[in-house]
Amino acid sequence: MHLSPLQSRLAASLAASCLLILLYLILFPPDFALAAELNEAPPVVTDDFDLSIDSAKLNPRDSVYEPEFSAFDKSITGRAPEGVTQLTNNEPMPMNVEPGSTQLFVFVPPSWSSGEENDRRHELRGEPNTSKADDAGAGAGTAEESKGRQENERNLEKRQGSQTVYISANTCQRPQPVEPSKTTKDPPQLTLFVSTTAANQAPGPLADEGSQEVIVFKEGAVMYSFDTDEEVYLGVYAPDVSESFSGPYNVRVAVSTDSYYYSYDDRDDADLIWVDSDSQGALLITHNLTESADPNVEAEVMKTQPYVLFAHNKKDRAINGLKYSYCGLYNYAQIAATKDERSTDLVRTGMTKRGPGNLPKQQFFFIGLNSSADYFGILARDGRAGGYLGKRQAASQRGTRVFKATSFSTKSDHGNCALVIDLAFCDQIAYSVPSNPNFGNSTKLADFYDNYARSAYANFEKSLAQVACDAPSSQRYSLARNCTDCAAAYKDWLCSVAIPRCEDFSNTASYLQPRAIDHPFPNGEKLDAETLASMPKTPAYMSSRNSLIDDIIKPGPHKELLPCDDLCYKLVQSCPASMEFGCPLPGSIGFAGNYAKHDTSEGLTCNFPGSAHFPSAGGRAVLNWGVMAGALMVGLLMV
Ligand SMILES: *[C@@H]1O[C@H](CO)[C@@H](O)[C@H](O)[C@H]1NC(C)=O
Ligand SMILES: *[C@@H]1O[C@H](CO)[C@@H](O)[C@H](O)[C@H]1NC(C)=O
Ligand SMILES: *[C@@H]1O[C@H](CO)[C@@H](O)[C@H](O)[C@H]1NC(C)=O
Ligand SMILES: *[C@@H]1O[C@H](CO)[C@@H](O)[C@H](O)[C@H]1NC(C)=O
Ligand SMILES: *[C@@H]1O[C@H](CO)[C@@H](O)[C@H](O)[C@H]1NC(C)=O
Repeated sequence: MHLSPLQSRLAASLAASCLLILLYLILFPPDFALAAELNEAPPVVTDDFDLSIDSAKLNPRDSVYEPEFSAFDKSITGRAPEGVTQLTNNEPMPMNVEPGSTQLFVFVPPSWSSGEENDRRHELRGEPNTSKADDAGAGAGTAEESKGRQENERNLEKRQGSQTVYISANTCQRPQPVEPSKTTKDPPQLTLFVSTTAANQAPGPLADEGSQEVIVFKEGAVMYSFDTDEEVYLGVYAPDVSESFSGPYNVRVAVSTDSYYYSYDDRDDADLIWVDSDSQGALLITHNLTESADPNVEAEVMKTQPYVLFAHNKKDRAINGLKYSYCGLYNYAQIAATKDERSTDLVRTGMTKRGPGNLPKQQFFFIGLNSSADYFGILARDGRAGGYLGKRQAASQRGTRVFKATSFSTKSDHGNCALVIDLAFCDQIAYSVPSNPNFGNSTKLADFYDNYARSAYANFEKSLAQVACDAPSSQRYSLARNCTDCAAAYKDWLCSVAIPRCEDFSNTASYLQPRAIDHPFPNGEKLDAETLASMPKTPAYMSSRNSLIDDIIKPGPHKELLPCDDLCYKLVQSCPASMEFGCPLPGSIGFAGNYAKHDTSEGLTCNFPGSAHFPSAGGRAVLNWGVMAGALMVGLLMV
């Protein structure tokens, strides 16, 4: 505290006065006790402190009803009744809850009456247009809420001056099994009790049912909102599990008047897309992070990495019942791609524009997973890590948000399918290709396929050079397509055909083409005679898509996700007839073993640039390119 000369003179004289008074008291103790009391609060000590009390005094509660936890009360004492924790708007509160007990909280909504103070309230609430819509409709809270409203309409009736209160909480820790090998259940969820009546200031399992709302946590999280201008009493109840589990629950509770601090999104269309995996890795991407065509916006988005990711082996139960809790995942998930020390080397995070539309997305590339294992991938947003630290940001942006889990699996330990990404020429390719651990690392593998495609493209460019590309439109080969379109269609087709997408031989999906069935696996094993006998001995089965793969990589038996037939139709439509491209018709010779059709009901049934295990709901329209018969494209395709 800096004192101006005037203040220090004041302080000095006050100190002198105090000394004098003390001396006086020592000399005449009994008679002047009253005077001593009046002088008890020395003005020097309180000069800063008084201001905060004054602002609270601007804020008098309703004179008829003087609650126990008025703002005035709080700012002086900072105390609520024994065992009750006071919550501040937008400030999360961590708390242990012992099994079999209820932890109580109280929240006093900020409330002002005059017009001037209303403005102030807006200011404190953050930006007026916060992303309420973003969180509305998400979560069990909404369904529970409408049910709850009917039961308790009297209390939650919308009044003038009332505002929406958003309660959210995450379970961060929970009791651990006493005997892990014998426990087959997960500890039960916490329960939130909410009351807005002064008659029930200790909501919980023992309180009057009619005076409170009961919301059970879902996967370690709860979201609940309603309109009120009363104090809100909360109880977080932990069930008694002391027989099989030990330790407390730990929960973080946040109340906000603008949006949910802790939210989750349980919509079915997962925000995280599994692109592909191999025996120890996987590639996942987010949706397009912007649809903006503005290059500046795009450049800005490419600089961000807005999401974090958690991954967990499905066989391990540590995150069961915590999948909507950010801190629960942070504490228990096996793999975390966060922006702090919790992050592991097992996942590389970056931005990419690969895929249809070439729009920015965040990608997560895992290594070091177990083979033939099923995983949950859980996308989340952490406001603190996203640079949204501004006090004026809405709670939803400062807090955390967890998205619904995406399932993905790794391939078998044969190791003959390996992920390649970041190819220089076939830049849209990011999936597993036929491989052999003895061939070399993934960079070498990617280069092998990429160089092969590049050399084939060089031949194509020579042919295209003979077409009158630069002629005026009346003399061009097509009014609708030009040489740019032809080259793009050729590249899309070529990269999908020259770089086969590999699946485990053990994958039984009907649309996959078995390859190289009588070759040995990388470990020297061969398919058993019975399996071999069940398959035709045609070239499509006996070798890989092109002989270079068998000669140099030697992947052994694998299956191929065939290129989509529309890649071929688009090529034929886009390029001059003089180039003599043609596509086989489904059912005709040359189709089977070379192309597959989109079948959205079965998921990803064929390969195209930027393909991924898109959620089946987001079906991709199959374009009906007129089919043209003609010469097959030989060399890359087998018949
Ligand atoms: C808030 O909404 C107004 C109009 O509704 C708009 O002009 C303004 O840009 C918005 N502010 C933010 C931060 O979204
Ligand atoms: C891999 O498997 C081992 C043994 O089953 C297990 O302990 C480990 O947690 C698993 N790791 C991952 C990342 O799934
Ligand atoms: C991104 O946007 C493009 C163009 O709108 C669309 O075709 C594509 O499916 C989107 N990708 C994802 C992953 O949503
Ligand atoms: C792959 O191997 C080559 C040498 O063959 C090496 O230069 C390169 O750094 C390796 N790449 C990775 C990702 O390990
Ligand atoms: C080819 O046509 C596309 C539109 O289909 C156009 O954007 C592009 O500029 C054209 N390229 C040339 C070289 O004319």
